[in-house]
Amino acid sequence: MKRNILITGGAGFIGSHVVRLMVNKYPEYRIVNLDKLTYAGNLANLKDIEEQSNYCFVRADICDYEAMQEVFRKYDIDGVIHLAAESHVDRSIKDPFTFAKTNVLGTLSLLQAAKEYWNGNYDGKRFYHISTDEVYGALELTKPKGDPNGNECGGGPYGDLFFTEQTKYNPHSPYSASKASSDHFVRAFHDTYGLPTIVTNCSNNYGPYQFPEKLIPLFINNIRHGKPLPVYGKGENVRDWLYVVDHARAIDLIFHEGRIAETYNIGGFNEWKNIDLIRVIIRTVDRLLGNAPGTSEKLITYVTDRAGHDLRYAIDSTKLKNELGWEPSLQFEEGIEKTVRWYLDNQEWLDNVTSGEYEKYYEKMYGSR
Ligand code: NAD
Ligand code: TYD
Repeated sequence: MKRNILITGGAGFIGSHVVRLMVNKYPEYRIVNLDKLTYAGNLANLKDIEEQSNYCFVRADICDYEAMQEVFRKYDIDGVIHLAAESHVDRSIKDPFTFAKTNVLGTLSLLQAAKEYWNGNYDGKRFYHISTDEVYGALELTKPKGDPNGNECGGGPYGDLFFTEQTKYNPHSPYSASKASSDHFVRAFHDTYGLPTIVTNCSNNYGPYQFPEKLIPLFINNIRHGKPLPVYGKGENVRDWLYVVDHARAIDLIFHEGRIAETYNIGGFNEWKNIDLIRVIIRTVDRLLGNAPGTSEKLITYVTDRAGHDLRYAIDSTKLKNELGWEPSLQFEEGIEKTVRWYLDNQEWLDNVTSGEYEKYYEKMYGSR
């Protein structure tokens, strides 16, 4: 079946994996990647598929309502996978306005454009909003060691409670507050206008093409350069890590088979205390660089904690498993090995995004940001 799918934020980390999967898997679809190309958007992430005939790129800001109307009309859009957002908690603490603008008003502008273009004819239409587990707030740490075998360092459940689809929203950072607000708008458009919406809330992603301001690529890059590894607080916070390609697989499945008006949680059942995860990263990078074990341990630097730092995130994705049969395909050990190797093998990509080289390139192609 022919379809015209709008993917927003497709030049970013998760978006680029979703675009790649959809372009390769569905040659009969037209995949329209719409992205503003902020500091986080990088078309180099899509070099391998940019020439494919079922792919096209539109540079636009989701806050620009007229531009959104035009895209729906021009490409006759019948499905939306909405990933465009400001995504980094630390930036949201410094500049909450940009987060409210893009994440809340941008989502609203996209919803309104979809509603207007589809004009009540919702047959076969779908507006799928990608959100985060951070909207649920923070969980307690009730189990001091995650590894049931009692090892000091290991992933596992760090508490008895998990976020489910019924957990009440309780966001703490400006980032999570803006995402929570956008989720509410999406559901309101279903409840008020009947727009066929789906929302998913996913845990922390890791893998290739993640901007090196987030923990895993930042630390790999810093180890490579012998720079300090800034651990917030005591490194006791827990995150549930999912390999990005597994998230993209879930998005594809839910976009096609998820039930309208439903929420699905997506997670890895893979909790790690930051400091344990950091030690795994150090060991892996040192080994792959041929350094003696423990060489980069000295780079660990404890710094002032992040304001409002959520203690623990842990997702229960049983609903998705039971309804649609999705499970993470990759063991964490394999995922982290692949990820470290990718950043070490793609140092040019890392150097370009950290030096701003790619920004100059895209300024030349598309004008200034
Ligand atoms: P990212 O920061 O890597 O990419 C965001 C993309 O959105 C970039 O390409 C950027 O240029 C684009 N963008 C930003 N503002 C825009 C605007 N106004 N108009 C058009 N495009 C704009 O983010 P990511 O980590 O890939 O996250 C993608 C989505 O998934 C976000 O909605 C995020 O909230 C959600 N999410 C992320 C994670 C995670 O661990 N990274 C986990 C759960 C959910
Ligand atoms: P991050 O990758 O920013 O994702 P999020 O805040 O959305 O979970 O951070 C992951 C965890 O790592 C989080 O608990 C904050 C911590 N962290 C550090 O300790 N140091 C750092 O330099 C960064 C970026 C994060």
